[in-house]
Amino acid sequence: MSEKSILDYETVELDDCDNSVVIIDQTRLPGKTEIIRLHTAQEIWDAIYLLKVRGAPAIGVSAAFGIYVLAKNIVKETGGKEENIEFEAFYEEFHNQKEYLNSARPTAVNLSWALNRMERVCLRAGREDGRSIPEILEILRREAVEIKEEDIRVCKAIGEYGLSLVKPGDGILTHCNAGQLATCKYGTATAPIYLGYERGYHFKVFADETRPLLQGARLTAYELHSAGVDVTLICDNMSAMVMKNGWINAVFVGCDRVAANGDAANKIGTSVVAAVAKHYGVPFYVCAPTSTIDFQTPSGAEIKIEQRPAEEVTEMWYKERMAPQGVKVFNPAFDVTDHELITAIVTEYGIARAPFKESLEKIRQKKLTRGFT
Ligand code: MRU
Repeated sequence: MSEKSILDYETVELDDCDNSVVIIDQTRLPGKTEIIRLHTAQEIWDAIYLLKVRGAPAIGVSAAFGIYVLAKNIVKETGGKEENIEFEAFYEEFHNQKEYLNSARPTAVNLSWALNRMERVCLRAGREDGRSIPEILEILRREAVEIKEEDIRVCKAIGEYGLSLVKPGDGILTHCNAGQLATCKYGTATAPIYLGYERGYHFKVFADETRPLLQGARLTAYELHSAGVDVTLICDNMSAMVMKNGWINAVFVGCDRVAANGDAANKIGTSVVAAVAKHYGVPFYVCAPTSTIDFQTPSGAEIKIEQRPAEEVTEMWYKERMAPQGVKVFNPAFDVTDHELITAIVTEYGIARAPFKESLEKIRQKKLTRGFT
């Protein structure tokens, strides 16, 4: 029997019987495939903060399953007697738990997007429709499952649009991990690569290792290599060289939040790649599910950038500390790529090009009128 590949695992699952969110602990990859179960608010928060589950869409799905698990716990804590709980008391606790999960990471908008969606459903069912607590729990479960299933359909659609931008044999560069491990299937930036692979496009992919947490080396190179894709790992400071050599025809990256003007926050180092791509005339594509577009945020200047512990830079992954004790460290997890550096933003509703304010608004209108199936 052939061995199970990393792509055969679910990034995020709900175990309704065990009342837990089940994830692959991504901090252990590629060395160890460890499946862990998250039951409590603290465990879910920690898993998101510590990047055991990471990548904007996967964070959103984990939060949706997480708040459902916690909603069931609220009922359990009253001795399991749903009829003893008033909706407003249930909702107050639900809201507190939601706010707590939402505080785990600030930049990926999918976290608040998924939690707000779950909260809206809860309020509609309880306050407007007067549903009972067991009915509300079932509605929440269905919504969380739908968020996951939608993610798979969205990624596939992004893959099809992305594939239309490249041709067989192309060299593609990607940064960080916007792959299957960051979503529920296909990934966003990797979706065109996986679809192209299935269709015999023979891409040559270059994966930036992505300091300091090495999502490119540990996750992207791992999942693409496991799938059989031709992938070459490079250090972050090599992207200029591979572009100058003419090996790259397109850059595909994911994103954590796109502002209304098209500025896009993604893993630290993305904007360097975009600037280099512009210099060498290589198209730079941001793959963005519409759940990642934040129309409330006018430009990248208003996007909150997560700052992470200094140890990630000074000692993590090394056998011994590699920086002088007491040295100052700057460790932002994301940077913002100015929209002027972006060739196009690829969504599940189509491809947006400059001027982005207008093209993203058109995408939003499509979403409002058409919905996504
Ligand atoms: O800190 P991470 O690993 O969560 O950062 C992930 C990224 O920057 C991804 O590119 C982004 O979330 C898009 S995932 C489809």
